[in-house]
Amino acid sequence: MKRVDDFRLMFGKKEYVPIMVGGMGVDISTAELALEAARLGGIGHISDAMVNDVSDRRFDTSFVKDKTRFYKHNIDNSDKSIIKFDLGVLAEATRRHVEATMEAKRGDGLIFVNCMEKLTMNGPRETLEVRMKSALDAGIDGITLSAGLHLGSFALIADHPRFRDAKLGIIVSSVRALQIFLRKNARLDRLPDYVIVEGPLAGGHLGFGMDWAQYDLATIIAEIVQYLQTEKLTIPVIAAGGIFTGSDAVSFLENGSAAVQVATRFTVANECGLPDSAKQEYFRASEEDIIVNTISPTGYPMRMLKSTPAIGSGIRPNCEAYGYLLDGNGGCAYITAYNHEVMLHPNSKNISVKEKTCLCTHMRNFNCWTCGHTTYRLKDTTKRLEDGSYQTLSAEHIFKDYQFSVDQQVALPA
Ligand SMILES: Cc1cc2nc3c(=O)[nH]c(=O)nc-3n(C[C@H](O)[C@H](O)[C@H](O)COP(=O)(O)O)c2cc1C
Repeated sequence: MKRVDDFRLMFGKKEYVPIMVGGMGVDISTAELALEAARLGGIGHISDAMVNDVSDRRFDTSFVKDKTRFYKHNIDNSDKSIIKFDLGVLAEATRRHVEATMEAKRGDGLIFVNCMEKLTMNGPRETLEVRMKSALDAGIDGITLSAGLHLGSFALIADHPRFRDAKLGIIVSSVRALQIFLRKNARLDRLPDYVIVEGPLAGGHLGFGMDWAQYDLATIIAEIVQYLQTEKLTIPVIAAGGIFTGSDAVSFLENGSAAVQVATRFTVANECGLPDSAKQEYFRASEEDIIVNTISPTGYPMRMLKSTPAIGSGIRPNCEAYGYLLDGNGGCAYITAYNHEVMLHPNSKNISVKEKTCLCTHMRNFNCWTCGHTTYRLKDTTKRLEDGSYQTLSAEHIFKDYQFSVDQQVALPA
């Protein structure tokens, strides 16, 4: 009976344990978590979502406070189009986050940064370019582009000296998305080094509509593997979404995937950035508590716990401080939904906005409990303590459980 450790992910002549820990913004996949994956020979992701805020927390900078002060005069204005990111500050925050992580790296694995294209930051192209180039400058091993079609993204960094040496990957949820990407990027003569195929059971935003349940990861992978073979392209395919045990991973590795990307199991790791109280919510969840809704202003469906405080919250849009989801014209679906509610209830102090949520604020405060579909099984991966809470696990324990377990077993902590 095979286990994950019988397989290796190859990048050129280098081999890695074929386990990637997926990016989880905002700072849920912390540097500590990513570093453990790399130390154990796999690949860990940090995320650059709201990196100015992450830098403030990690390095005691004051980027968010400074930006809030600068745009204070606009707080009561429903038009947020003047709120721009200072590209120098964005570069500096990215450099700090990436550099400190890379300096702490031990072992044979790699650290990648997850860049969500949907963080359009009221200037999609220039902010994404700065985010990616600063991460490359700071020595990141690779960049995973997610939450978008990535069509012009490689071109943004084509003039960077590390364009051909750093690993570049994309996340797709269909063979069609991959085909379009490859067609658009053909003139760059630079294929992605890996393609993560994320199925409908993943956490975070989904690359599907609300009909997500009609799709199946294994089928999409089979289509993509077949397509790459027909085109004679050798790009490692990495399966993601709902892979809960080592045996689940082996079945993908035996069927054309070069590695797996996993996240949900690590949301209850000691090194994960979620507060302990949220980790306990994840442990306690039953299958009915996990829902997919459309409250994210990005337009993508998102999976989360039903008890997520972000649902129905009617806080004032916080774009002066954050503003990561402002589109190229300074709009955000939450601002529209909020203004509509205010118009309907002009004298009400506490309004509830059901349609959308202020994702920046709630992700930043760990009040949007996004999770994968298999979250309800997390309680089976640990022990219950005397006070009724569940024991959180070390990232090493979870990583090694994926790496060495067989027969659908999950090792409980010692
Ligand atoms: C809490 C959480 C946050 C996530 N945030 C992001 C993110 O910021 N960007 C992204 O590309 N994927 C995100 N994901 C998706 C994961 O990186 C990963 O691909 C997916 O969840 C793997 O499936 P699994 O959770 O069933 O193992 C997130 C997943 C979780 C559970």
